[in-house]
Amino acid sequence: MLRSVILAAARSPRVERLVETAPVSRDVVKRFVAGVTTDEALLATKQLAHSGLRITLDNLGEDTLNEKQATATKDAYLELLKALDSAGLTADGKAEVSLKLSALGQAFDEAKAEANAREICVAADEAGTTVTLDAEDHTTTDSTLDILLRLRRDHPSLGAVLQAYLRRTEADCRELATAGSRVRLCKGAYKEPEHVAYQSALEVDKSYVRCMNILMAGDGYPMLATHDPRLIAIGEDRARWFDREPDRFEFQMLYGVRPEEQLRLSHEGYSVRVYVPYGSEWYGYLMRRLAERPANIGFFARALVSK
Ligand code: FDA
Repeated sequence: MLRSVILAAARSPRVERLVETAPVSRDVVKRFVAGVTTDEALLATKQLAHSGLRITLDNLGEDTLNEKQATATKDAYLELLKALDSAGLTADGKAEVSLKLSALGQAFDEAKAEANAREICVAADEAGTTVTLDAEDHTTTDSTLDILLRLRRDHPSLGAVLQAYLRRTEADCRELATAGSRVRLCKGAYKEPEHVAYQSALEVDKSYVRCMNILMAGDGYPMLATHDPRLIAIGEDRARWFDREPDRFEFQMLYGVRPEEQLRLSHEGYSVRVYVPYGSEWYGYLMRRLAERPANIGFFARALVSK
């Protein structure tokens, strides 16, 4: 119930204005967002890399409604990739980037979004790193996977994100568990209707395990994106079962969420990548993080009263 209310607020421009102007927002945002500028994102990337973690950077933005905004987002990625390369952060797949096609214009011009994504893939190739396409609400899944397959013809390292809460995802995992295919598996963060998505946490977790089994048994490169201790333990078990050495899969977590677990897994010898969002358009992202965990609302409220 609370999750639904917060996810509905994530789509409300009125609540967005309220939250963005609240004096507390910057403190709360800092926990989950690495900063606003490319320099701030680079600093966070360097710190994480120094701790032995890998990074994927997301220039925050979604639901872009005009071409100017979409081009600005694309340009921000080109600038970021150059900066990562110059700082030596792209070597050995240390830092890569994650993209939302909606931020590149998918909602109003799918071809434009694809062209923007293609330019970013070319820049990533030049910088010696990879790109992963984020998954958004289910109305975009077909379009995103179609674009993925077209772009992969020229950029085979382009990664996909699949959401275990969608009923279709087991089939998508089977399609994508092929040689060289990078697939990030997450639970899914949007409010979705019953006919397309499992609704209970148990059903979502069971689907996650079925999808993980397919990916870990397959020929691709699985990226297990979760903070859930039970799923992480199952991931460790499957890695042993399917003889997946640390260079043949990775765990992934969000910036600011269970940082001690990120380090524990890394110290155990696993590859761990942290998803680092940055930029001024943090509202939708922050609201999804709050919806994931009621305790985060308490964190938000405590910061409010301590002001
Ligand atoms: P779950 O939500 O059950 O959390 C398990 C435990 O982790 C909690 O008990 C708590 O301890 C901790 N935890 C989880 N979330 C927390 C939070 N916000 N704050 C503090 N603690 C928290 N979704 C999507 O729809 N499209 C996408 O492209 C992506 N991309 C993506 C990339 C990466 C690298 C990650 C890790 C996640 C995503 N997600 C996503 C988000 C994902 O779908 C999901 O909403 C969150 O990861 C939370 O689910 P968990 O698997 O962590 O389990």
